[in-house]
Amino acid sequence: MYEMKDEYLTGIKMIDDEHRKLFEIAEETYQLKNNEFIPDKYDNVKHLLHNLKEYTIKHFEDEEEYMESINYKRMFTQKVEHQEFRDKLDAYDIDGIDENTEYVIDDIIEFLTKWLIEHILENDMLIAE
Ligand SMILES: [Fe+2]
Ligand SMILES: [Fe+2]
Repeated sequence: MYEMKDEYLTGIKMIDDEHRKLFEIAEETYQLKNNEFIPDKYDNVKHLLHNLKEYTIKHFEDEEEYMESINYKRMFTQKVEHQEFRDKLDAYDIDGIDENTEYVIDDIIEFLTKWLIEHILENDMLIAE
């Protein structure tokens, strides 16, 4: 379902490698959603959300550092969007997740789709211009 395609490549290896990893997390989430053999997905969701948070923070730091190094002119827009995503991830109460796991999984998928596809295509693709 989720995989890195050529149309998502920015041409900057570090950024593309990290985006690839994010696509993997999205795919993992999608597989978890459709896995009917796990009766209680709580631990999986917790683990996934933890990884997503850590990796997102790392990716934004790396991407922002790169943009700074080239004096990127659309840096401000990028930073604002990155912060919105960080805030959204911070709003998840990992320990508070319980019987509502399906809802959280759907929410993560929606978040990742918006971020992955839209942010990469609309914003990150411009970095290498
Ligand atoms: Fe970005
Ligand atoms: Fe990015």
